[in-house]
Amino acid sequence: MAKESKKVKAEGKPLYTIPGLSTEQGATIAALLQDRLNALTDLHLTLKHVHWNVVGPHFIAVHEMLDPQVDAVREMADTTAERIATLGLSPWGTPGALVADRSWEDYSIGRAGAIEHLGALDLVYAGVIEDHRNAIAATDDLDLVTQDMLIGQSSQLEQFHWFVRAHLETAGGELSTQGATTEVAAAGRAGVKRKSA
Ligand SMILES: [Fe+2]
Repeated sequence: MAKESKKVKAEGKPLYTIPGLSTEQGATIAALLQDRLNALTDLHLTLKHVHWNVVGPHFIAVHEMLDPQVDAVREMADTTAERIATLGLSPWGTPGALVADRSWEDYSIGRAGAIEHLGALDLVYAGVIEDHRNAIAATDDLDLVTQDMLIGQSSQLEQFHWFVRAHLETAGGELSTQGATTEVAAAGRAGVKRKSA
């Protein structure tokens, strides 16, 4: 087993932090960012899972649409982790810690049609984006540099969400997944809509 690092983990108090912030503020921001790091790591792995499991008539369009999203979200995770390190704490990037810390369930769909996966991804993106906006609000009086990073990420995430939703939308602007609260339900509604269209 590797020797344990003496560096303080993201949830503790740093021994130093960014000049102009107290170590308490550094700890608060890092804890908030650790949750965003978990969400972004989870998201880029989930997007790859869909890239591998999508089947059916729209396979190649969705398969190829997802890879640039994986790359961009992976970059966001990297920037977020490095911000935690900049704050004087240790970003935690291992799968076990992610699963233990996260407040959401694992993506629940395996091999399925493109529209079904996109229906489920609508909910996945909605969750990440809402939590990112909460983190933006929480950094308002705390750290505008961190907030700026989160705003930049949100802009990209919200555009990727639109890419997903554009497949689920009617010409009248109605979303097939409207009202769904689980990925399975959203996938079902998206699939039914397509078959009846
Ligand atoms: Fe691939």
